[in-house]
Amino acid sequence: MKILILGSGGREHAIAWKLSQSKKLKELIIAPGNAGTAQIAKNIPIGVNDFVAIKKLVLDYGINMVVVGPEDPLVNGVHDFFLKDSKLKGIPVIGPEKAAANLEGSKEFAKEFMMKHNIPTAQYESFTAKTIDKGYLFLEKLDPPYVLKADGLAAGKGVVILNNLEEAKAELKSMLLDEKFGSASTTVVIEEFLDGIELSVFVLTDGKNYKVLPTAKDYKRIGEGDTGLNTGGMGAISPVPFANKELMDKIERLIVKPTVEGLKTDNLPYKGFIFIGLIKVGEEPKVIEYNVRLGDPETEVVLPRIQNDLVELFEAVAEERLDEIDLKIDPRTATTVMTVSGGYPGSYEKGKVISGMDTIDGSLVFHAGTTHDKDGNVVTNGGRVMAITSFGPDFKSALALSYKNVKKLSFEGMNYRKDLGFDL
Ligand code: AMP
Ligand code: GLY
Repeated sequence: MKILILGSGGREHAIAWKLSQSKKLKELIIAPGNAGTAQIAKNIPIGVNDFVAIKKLVLDYGINMVVVGPEDPLVNGVHDFFLKDSKLKGIPVIGPEKAAANLEGSKEFAKEFMMKHNIPTAQYESFTAKTIDKGYLFLEKLDPPYVLKADGLAAGKGVVILNNLEEAKAELKSMLLDEKFGSASTTVVIEEFLDGIELSVFVLTDGKNYKVLPTAKDYKRIGEGDTGLNTGGMGAISPVPFANKELMDKIERLIVKPTVEGLKTDNLPYKGFIFIGLIKVGEEPKVIEYNVRLGDPETEVVLPRIQNDLVELFEAVAEERLDEIDLKIDPRTATTVMTVSGGYPGSYEKGKVISGMDTIDGSLVFHAGTTHDKDGNVVTNGGRVMAITSFGPDFKSALALSYKNVKKLSFEGMNYRKDLGFDL
């Protein structure tokens, strides 16, 4: 098998690491990759949305399978691009077709899908510039906090939660009339605030069958105690300690099954990962969002716990025989701690030399934003820099090992959350 991965973050390094353990793998290419993926695969400097260049790469290297990391190329139709091309159509793509990727590409579409298939989620209404007055009235009828969501992709920043009615109205105006999120906020979904504890469930589907993968919980805020600005994710823990069998059975019955069946009935072709963001309100799980890919940094704890050969899993997805696979999960807990650049998620500098990687003992190192400088040093190249993943019999011991190893890393301005798991 010659496999191409699209992407450049910690998620893609973890996918590469897992694929590279397979005896079935002959060659692994990543576009564009990072300094970590360069150790186990060949990086090719092509952007994930440059489909023409991707086609050339796939044909030049004789690639047999493409694994898509981030949502952008999926929402832009990379899978459809392959299916429509006579030379590419036989090459499996792991990731949904555009119509199904809309579950992440449009919040309104996702809400309509959930309503149609009776999947528990927050009550909502959606508004455009034309119906803004109705939006103001809807806000007046709701109790605070007010949850406003830009319909389209907004790099994880499109959800705004406000306590004050006047501020919520001003935010609605800024999204709809002043294009706060550009075309992503031409439509805004306003929904009921769900008060509870969050977890994420990951599912792998071939469009007919599915496997529920390990659960995970990420820490999105930059500051200790879940304060400050939202980030891409400062760390993750898998499994989620409160996701007991009873809750997981409920999630599978009320959410996972109807989702996969809904995709089938609505003719939304899906071969890939579904990331379901949930809030547990009392004992009831409700969906807050679908993502059409794995999470980052959740992947850095979910994939290490999967004991199956990932190439075999992906082949089963491509051939619609996931029902033949017996999923094996490591019962231990995995944790990951993300180190980030000083200033992130605001502005930050790149190009800081990273040291200490070779002294890390007993943990896995997944590069997120790294590259090589002209002298061959590994340097920072993004807000999120490196994730340190560890195993333990429980989350506390796994975290202790991650933190012990994080302390061995250093680069100018390095920051990380020291309180992961504080809420568990
Ligand atoms: P999303 O981009 O949809 O993941 O939303 C970002 C974050 O906003 C989520 O992780 C939740 O913490 C929060 N959120 C989204 N929708 C709701 C809701 N209806 N009630 C409460 N919190 C929400
Ligand atoms: N860590 C959240 C995400 O990948 O969307």
